[in-house]
Amino acid sequence: MVWQEIFMIRRGAHPVPKYVVPEPFTLRNYCVGDEENWFRIYKASDNYNRIYSSMFREYFGADQELLARRQFYLCDAEGTAIGTASAWLNPNFHGEALGRVHWVAILPEYQGRGLSKPLISAVCQRLLECGHQDSYLRTISVRITAIRLYLGFGFLPDVRSPHDAEIWQGICKHIPDLALLDPWR
Ligand SMILES: CC(C)(COP(=O)(O)OP(=O)(O)OC[C@H]1O[C@@H](n2cnc3c(N)ncnc32)[C@H](O)[C@@H]1OP(=O)(O)O)[C@@H](O)C(=O)NCCC(=O)NCCS
Repeated sequence: MVWQEIFMIRRGAHPVPKYVVPEPFTLRNYCVGDEENWFRIYKASDNYNRIYSSMFREYFGADQELLARRQFYLCDAEGTAIGTASAWLNPNFHGEALGRVHWVAILPEYQGRGLSKPLISAVCQRLLECGHQDSYLRTISVRITAIRLYLGFGFLPDVRSPHDAEIWQGICKHIPDLALLDPWR
């Protein structure tokens, strides 16, 4: 399937919509050894990116304090990690230092159970706590479920060129409400 890279931005320290993690699931921060959980979750959930074992270090480094502050894991009743997302940062996104919602995934067998909203809510809240008034994320045009989810948290299309506008107009066919926004006009 053809897909294109897109970006979304949430500007301003608006209150983050709150969602409770449904029982028996729990949400916790990164702990030592979670690299393996991250890899297992991503390998099973992501059909578009190539997921390889050294990827965690490449994207997140090894600063344990930073990881503990900025990376989350959803766990099942037995405490096994079944989802992850990170409240990351980019010192230079088009010249701006921004927070970043980074690498969001829930194992396929746990998708569709309402777990993504509490996860994204915790990430957005942590980004604010870390001092990021403005945050962004990168995704791809075919991830309609994820795009809808991010719109619900106040992320808007980041349109910087006619090419971006064209991609977003294509996405509007799947998310009609998006056509009411006008960041690409
Ligand atoms: C995107 C993702 C995190 C969403 O997690 P999830 O737990 O399945 O989502 P939820 O159950 O919380 O549902 C969120 C919304 O999406 C809808 N949804 C979930 N799965 C869906 C599906 N397969 N088709 C259509 N809608 C779906 C839900 O109905 C819900 O809608 P609502 O807001 O109207 O209630 C998950 O699908 C995933 O990990 N996908 C693979 C990796 C990925 O795409 N990551 C994002 C990269 S930026």
